[in-house]
Amino acid sequence: MPVIEYTHRINQLKKEKNAVILAHNYMTPQIFHGIADITGDSLGLAREAVNTEADIIIVCGVHFMAETAKLLNPDKTVIIPDPAAGCSLAESITPEDVRALRVKYPGVPVVTYVNTSAGVKAECDICCTSGNALKIVESLESDRVIFLPDRYLASYVASRTEKEIITWPGSCEVHEKFTPGEIGRFRDAVPGLTVIAHPECPPDVLDASDYTGSTAQMIDFIGNADLHSLQKPESILLATECSMSDNLSSIFPDVNFIRPCNICPHMKLITLQKVLKSLEDLTPVVEIPNDVAGRARSAVEQMLSVKGSNHEIY
Ligand code: 13P
Ligand code: SF4
Repeated sequence: MPVIEYTHRINQLKKEKNAVILAHNYMTPQIFHGIADITGDSLGLAREAVNTEADIIIVCGVHFMAETAKLLNPDKTVIIPDPAAGCSLAESITPEDVRALRVKYPGVPVVTYVNTSAGVKAECDICCTSGNALKIVESLESDRVIFLPDRYLASYVASRTEKEIITWPGSCEVHEKFTPGEIGRFRDAVPGLTVIAHPECPPDVLDASDYTGSTAQMIDFIGNADLHSLQKPESILLATECSMSDNLSSIFPDVNFIRPCNICPHMKLITLQKVLKSLEDLTPVVEIPNDVAGRARSAVEQMLSVKGSNHEIY
């Protein structure tokens, strides 16, 4: 079936079944521009999941994102078109690991990146996303904080706070591939290039970049460059997942996006075909055991309640 027919059929079924499609910024343009009702970063999707009136939430993203939507909407049907869509960060740590850290560092609060399983969230005090990590860490009274599981996001936060940050050796298989040498080569080839990096990149890549932010903060930054007293960048390299530039090139047609292409194989498991099938069958649904869900939900709600946690630094 041609793409246009999938798109049409999905958009039709969505209305008939009162479903909403939340799509992460890393979805392909077919999903991001063709069928999504709401697009955003992990934080934006979590916030929108709270507000939706729909009966059914289809999450076009990875499994932890669908779990977050379910935690915030326990009475709704939450569907992920491919439950195998995981994340190298979420795979890097288990609930037992968090419990062992609590024994090793008694009394030290645990901040868990939203890129984790509900079981890991249930063991922590508060969640954060790449868009609010520093705000969340700063909101805690303790001068020592355990920050899990992304070592690079942790070191980014550590470089901006007085608090001592205890880290975990997790990393994103997509962002850890960027290198300062690669960025330097692009800068040599493209005069005036602006580089915006995701904080999951290694520290030497962030040092070689002009700005750092979550995927939504990247969009805000480009859209509001004039508010930051900058000239609108003509050429931009986004040190993040490949589809991000594809999606933004039609939102910012005047910007020349330079595209080193690091693909997230987990995000790319979500396809139009699978979305259509999941809307037709209303499966696979996301379920979280009650004993885990209550504690994991309170860690996510704790994050959403932190004042100003919506926006952070560039
Ligand atoms: P954002 O919250 O910045 O969109 O990041 C999610 C993610 O998976 C990054 O790799
Ligand atoms: Fe996980 Fe990295 Fe893929 Fe994001 S890009 S879902 S952090 S593996």
